[in-house]
Amino acid sequence: MPVRAPHSPADFAAYYQLRYQVLRQPWNQPPGSERADDDEAPTTIHALFATDEGHVAGVGRLHPSGPHQAQVRYMAVDPALQGQGIGQQVLKYLEEAARQQGQTECILHARQQAVPFYERLGYHVVAPSHLLFGTVQHYLMRKDL
Ligand SMILES: CC(C)(COP(=O)(O)OP(=O)(O)OC[C@H]1O[C@@H](n2cnc3c(N)ncnc32)[C@H](O)[C@@H]1OP(=O)(O)O)[C@@H](O)C(=O)NCCC(=O)NCCS
Repeated sequence: MPVRAPHSPADFAAYYQLRYQVLRQPWNQPPGSERADDDEAPTTIHALFATDEGHVAGVGRLHPSGPHQAQVRYMAVDPALQGQGIGQQVLKYLEEAARQQGQTECILHARQQAVPFYERLGYHVVAPSHLLFGTVQHYLMRKDL
C-alpha cells in the first residue's frame, strides 16, 4: 500500500503543504494555520499517500481521544486526484493503526461535504458539531473499529 508515515523533512513539508492547500488556503487562512499543537506529540500518527512518482497526494492523522477511542483529523486529498480511492486508503491505514493500539472506536468531525465519504466507510453521524471559519458545518461521526 502506498500509504506510510512521513519520515524526511521533505515528506513533512509536502504533508503540511497539502493540508494547507486543501483545508486552509481556500478560506484565506494564513500559512501555519494548518498546524496543530499536538502534531508533534509522540502519540499522534501521521499518514501520507505517495504516488509512484513520489507526489504526496493524500494525508491524514490520528490521535488518542479517550479510553479506547481515537480521533481522525486533517484528511485531505489533492483536488486533482480526489475520487480515486486515495482518501479511503489513508483512512484505512489510520484505522488499522488505531486497532493496533487497542482502540475500539474512531471519531472525527467531518465537513458537511465529506460526510458521504465517511458514511461509505462505515461512520455514522452522531450530531452536528462546530462551524469552521463561519461557514463550514462539521458533524461528529463515529465508527466501531
Ligand atoms: C473527503 C476526501 C478526503 C475523500 O478522499 P477521496 O480520495 O476523494 O475519496 P475516495 O476516492 O477514497 O472515496 C472513497 C469512497 O467514498 C465515496 N465518496 C468520496 N467522496 C464522496 C462524496 N462527496 N459523496 C459521496 N461519496 C463519496 C467514493 O465514491 C468512494 O466510494 P466507492 O469505494 O464506492 O467508490 C477528499 O475528497 C478531500 O480531501 N476533500 C476535501 C477536503 C475534505 O473535505 N476533507 C475532509 C475533512 S473532514
